[in-house]
Amino acid sequence: MISRETIDLVFETARVEEVIGEFVTLKKSGSSYKGLSPFVDEKSPSFMVSPVKGIWKDFSTGKGGNAISFLMEHEHYSYPEAIRYLADKYNIVIEETEQTNEQKEAADERESMYLVSKYAQDYFHKTMLNTQKGKAIGLSYFKERGFTSEMIETFQLGYCLDDWTAFTDTALKNGYDLQYLESTGLTIVKEGGKQFDRFKGRVMFPIHSMSGRVLGFGGRILTNDKKAAKYLNSPESDIYHKSRILYGLYQAKKTISKEDNCYLVEGYTDVISMYQKGITNVVASSGTALTPDQIRLVKRLTPNMTVLFDGDAAGLRASVRGIDLILEQGMNVKVVTFPDGDDPDSFSKKKSTEELKEYLENNQQDFISFKVSLLLEEAKDDPIKKAGLIRDIVMSISKIPDSIKQEVYIQECSRLMDISETVLFNELAQMLDKHARDAERKPSSTRPKMTIASSANKSSKSSSGGDMPDDAAFNEMMMAQEVGMNTSKGKTSGQKGTTPKTINTLDLYEREIIKILLLYGNHEVTFVDWVEDHDKRGKVIMVKEEYTNTVAHELYLQLQDDEIEFTNPLFQKIYKEITYQISEKEKLALERLTSHENQEIAQEVTNILMDDEHYILSDWESKEIEVTQKTDVLQKLVQDAILNLRRVLIELKVKELMQEVSVEEKRLEALQDVMSYTQLKTLLFEKLHRVL
Ligand code: CTP
Ligand code: MN
Repeated sequence: MISRETIDLVFETARVEEVIGEFVTLKKSGSSYKGLSPFVDEKSPSFMVSPVKGIWKDFSTGKGGNAISFLMEHEHYSYPEAIRYLADKYNIVIEETEQTNEQKEAADERESMYLVSKYAQDYFHKTMLNTQKGKAIGLSYFKERGFTSEMIETFQLGYCLDDWTAFTDTALKNGYDLQYLESTGLTIVKEGGKQFDRFKGRVMFPIHSMSGRVLGFGGRILTNDKKAAKYLNSPESDIYHKSRILYGLYQAKKTISKEDNCYLVEGYTDVISMYQKGITNVVASSGTALTPDQIRLVKRLTPNMTVLFDGDAAGLRASVRGIDLILEQGMNVKVVTFPDGDDPDSFSKKKSTEELKEYLENNQQDFISFKVSLLLEEAKDDPIKKAGLIRDIVMSISKIPDSIKQEVYIQECSRLMDISETVLFNELAQMLDKHARDAERKPSSTRPKMTIASSANKSSKSSSGGDMPDDAAFNEMMMAQEVGMNTSKGKTSGQKGTTPKTINTLDLYEREIIKILLLYGNHEVTFVDWVEDHDKRGKVIMVKEEYTNTVAHELYLQLQDDEIEFTNPLFQKIYKEITYQISEKEKLALERLTSHENQEIAQEVTNILMDDEHYILSDWESKEIEVTQKTDVLQKLVQDAILNLRRVLIELKVKELMQEVSVEEKRLEALQDVMSYTQLKTLLFEKLHRVL
C-alpha cells in the first residue's frame, strides 16, 4: 500500500498538462490546452486540459478527470499504478506498506497479466545476459546481428531457454499463477495438464504499450527451419491486441513528437537497427497491414508519417494500397523505398548515421506522387490500365479530408500523368459524391455532436444512448444564464409537452446548483431579499433586506430551509462532500473533489467544471464570453437556480397530486393541494421573471 503522504505529494506535484502531454500533443488555447482526443479518431480537437483546474475533459467521449484518472483511462492503470507512474515521473520516493496476500489477490485479472508479462520480460532478459546458455545462444545471436548492448537494454531483448518448462517452472515457483501464465500465452497448457513454454528456444522481443507496460512478445526462432514460423507472437488476450499495438512506440514516442514525424517499418529488427543508427522515431506494424487504431496511436504524436518500403516491387504494390487508410485519417504520408533486396534493417547496417539520414531525406517522396510514378510505369502503354490508374489515384486523393490538399494533389497528378486537371477534378467530384451518398446510407455515426449552440431545439434527434441533446440543451441554458440572458427560454415558458422525454429537468437544475457551488462557492455575494414587515399603522409591507454571504453558505441555507434534497444520487454525494468541506474548512477545495477516490464523483465534478471549456472548442472563444463574477449577477444566478429547482419540484408534486385526484376518496384534498401548489408556482414564476 502506498502511504497517504505519498499520494498527497503526488497530487500536489503532478501537473495535468505535463502528464497528458506525454500522450497527447497539446496546444495552448487561452488558459487551457487543447488536442485531438486520444480515445476516438477525430479531425478537430475536442480534448481539453485545464492546468488551472488541474483537470482534463474529452468532449468526444465525455471522459474526464485529473492526471490520475487520465492514466487510468488511457493506460489502463489501476489507481496505485497511476500513483506509482507519477511518483516515478516526478522523482517522488514512494513510502509504502508491504502488500498482503489478500491485496495481491485482489488485484484484478488484467493487472495480474501485466505483472506476469513484466516478470517474463525481466526473466528472459536476465536469462540471456546471465546464464551460460543465454549468453552462448541468445546473446551471441543478437551480437552476430550487430545489435549493441545499449539496444539490448533499450528494447529489453531476451532469450527463452530451449527447455520445455524452464520459464514456466521458475514463474510458478515465484508465485505467479498458472492462470495468468496461460492467459498471456506465455505457457501453453495441453489437454491433460501438460505445460510448456510457448517461446522455448527463441530470442525475445518484448512489446510495450505507449507508456512502457509489457503487453506481449515476439519470439524469433534461431534456426533456419522452414517448417517452423520465424516469429511467434503472444496470442490475442485482454492485454495484447495486435491491431492496437505498434512495436517500438514506447521507445520512439518522444522523438516522434519532437521531430514531428514517424517512420513506419515492417519488422522488429528494422526498428532496432534504425534506432541503433540514431533514427529513433521509428515503429513497426509487425508485418501486417496498418490498422486505424495503430494510425491513431501515431496521430496523437504527429500528423506526419514516412513509410519505409523494402526493395522488392511485388510487395511494394500490395502494401501501397493499404496506405489510403493513413490518408483517410488525415495524415501526411511520405514514402521511402530501399534498393532492391534491402530492408531498413539491412540498409541501416551498411550505412553510417549520416548516410542513412541523408538517404531518407533525399529519397522521401510524397505518397500520391510515389503511387503515381509506381503505377504509371506499369500502365505506361496500356490505355485501359491507365484509366484504371487514374481512378485509383483519384480514389486515394478523395480519401484526404483536407480539400486544399486535394486540390494540390490533383494539380500534381495532372502534371505527372499528363491528364487535364478538369478530367481529374470531375472524377474527384464523382467520388466525393459517392462517399457522401455511402455515408448517408450508413447508420449515423455514434460520435456525439460537437456543436452545442444549435442542437438544443433539435434534441429529438437523439444519438444512440448518448445523452448529448440533454447536455446541449442544458449548456445553452447555462450559457444564457451566465451572460445574463433570460433563462426561461424554451423550457419554462409553459409549453407543456414540448420538452423531450429524455430531459430530466430536475437533474438539470440540480446539476446547475452543483455547478454554481463548484464555480462560485467561495465567492462573497450581497443578497437581496424581500421580507414581510408592518408599517407604523400595522399594515403589511415588503421590506428590502440586504445581507452578505458566500455562495455556498447561501445555497446551503436555502436548500435547508426548503428541506430540499437532491434526487440524483450522484449529485447527492457531491453535495454532501461540498457541505462537509464548507462546514469543516469554511472553504471549498476543488482539488479534493476532482481527485476524489470515488471515481464517479471525480468524474462528474470534472465534467461540470469543464462545461465552460466546451465553449472554447465550439468557437465561443472568439466571442470572449467571460463568466462574469459581478456580485449582482452571481446573486441572480444563485436565486434563479433555487427558484427553478423549487418550481420543478412543485411541478412534480402537482403531477403526483393529479394522479390522486383520480382516486375518489382523495380527490378533494388533492385538488386543494394542487391549487395551493399552483399558486406557489405562480409566485415563484413571478419572482423568477422579475427584472433586477
Ligand atoms: N512476422 C510475424 N510472424 C512471422 C513473420 C513475420 O509476426 N512468421 C512479423 C514480425 O513482426 C516481423 C515482421 O513481420 O518483424 C517482418 O517480417 P520479416 O521481414 O520476415 O522479419 P524481420 O523483422 O525482417 O526479421 P529478421 O530480420 O530477423 O528476418
Ligand atoms: Mn529482416
